[in-house]
Amino acid sequence: MASFKALIAVVFISALAFQSCLVHGNFYNDMYFNWGGKHSFIFGNGDDLNLVLDKTSGSGVQSKKAYLFGSIEMLIKLVPGNSAGTVTAYYLSSTGDYHDEIDFEFLGNSSGQPYTMHTNIFTQGKGNREQQFKLWFDPTADFHNYTIHWNPTAVVWYVDSIPIRVFRNYESEGIGYPNQQGMQVYSSLWNADNWATRGGLVKIDWTCAPFKAGLRKFNARACKWNGPVSIFQCAFPSVANWWTSPVYKQLNWDQQGKLKWVRDNYMIYNYCTDYKRFNGQMAPECSKPQY
Ligand SMILES: *[C@@H]1O[C@H](CO)[C@@H](O)[C@H](O)[C@H]1NC(C)=O
Ligand SMILES: *[C@@H]1O[C@H](CO)[C@@H](O)[C@H](O)[C@H]1NC(C)=O
Repeated sequence: MASFKALIAVVFISALAFQSCLVHGNFYNDMYFNWGGKHSFIFGNGDDLNLVLDKTSGSGVQSKKAYLFGSIEMLIKLVPGNSAGTVTAYYLSSTGDYHDEIDFEFLGNSSGQPYTMHTNIFTQGKGNREQQFKLWFDPTADFHNYTIHWNPTAVVWYVDSIPIRVFRNYESEGIGYPNQQGMQVYSSLWNADNWATRGGLVKIDWTCAPFKAGLRKFNARACKWNGPVSIFQCAFPSVANWWTSPVYKQLNWDQQGKLKWVRDNYMIYNYCTDYKRFNGQMAPECSKPQY
C-alpha cells in the first residue's frame, strides 16, 4: 500500500513538472478554427466568437494549448428560437487512445421548449457517465458562465458560479481520474438531428439557418501542459495552490446547498440511477460520496 501511494505521488509530481500557470483569454491568440472557420468569426478584439451552423457545415474551435488542471471559463449564449437538432458543445479533451474528456453539451429544442444540458466525463477512454439538466433560465436570451474547475482532487462543473456536478478523484480505489495528460479546450456547433432532440425525432429546420451560438471571454486560469515527461526530470512546484493541491477541498455550505437545489430540481438524467441501462452493475463511483 505504501509503495502504491508512493507511486501515485511520483506520477502526480511528474504530471506537474512541465506546467506553468497562466491566465489569459483571447480567441485570436488562444484558439483556432479546426472546422468551418470560413463562415464563423471572431470579433470584439478577440473577446467574442460566433460559431455558425448552416447547410454547408457546422463549426468549431480548439485551444492552441493543452492544460493540466485549471479553471476553464466560457460565457455562452445558445442558438435562439427553433434550435431543434443542433448541439453546442464546450469541452476539454485529450487526444489518442484512453482519452480523458470533460463535457458540457447543449441540446437544442423546438421554439419555446427547454434546452437539455448534458454533462459527461471520460477517464482513460471510459465514459458512460452522463448527467443531464434543465436550466433555470433561458440560455438563449443572454450569456451565461459555464466553467470547469479541474484540480488533482476533483472536477466541478459550474453554471453561473453554481456547482452542478462534482467528480471526485477515487483513483486509489481503482477509478480512473484525468490527471495523466493535458487536455485542449474545444467548442463547436453542429447538426446532430439524428439523436439530439427527442431522440432524433425532431429534425433541424433549415429555414431558420444560419444558426449562431455566441462565445465570449474564454478564460483559462490553467496550467499549461507540454507533454509527457520522464519522472526523473521532475521537481515539485515551489508554489502549491488550488490547481495543484493534492487535498480535496469540499464545497462550502452555500455551494453545497446550491448544488443540491440544482440536482433536486433540475437534474433529468443521472447514470448513477439508471439501473436498467447498466443491468444493476453501477459504476463504482456512484456508491462513493459525490461531493
Ligand atoms: C465564471 O464562473 C467562475 C466559477 O464560479 C468564476 O470563478 C468566474 O469569475 C466567472 N467568470 C465571469 C466572467 O463571470
Ligand atoms: C425538448 O422539449 C420537450 C418538451 O418540453 C422535452 O420533452 C425534451 O426533453 C426537450 N429537450 C430535448 C433535447 O429534446
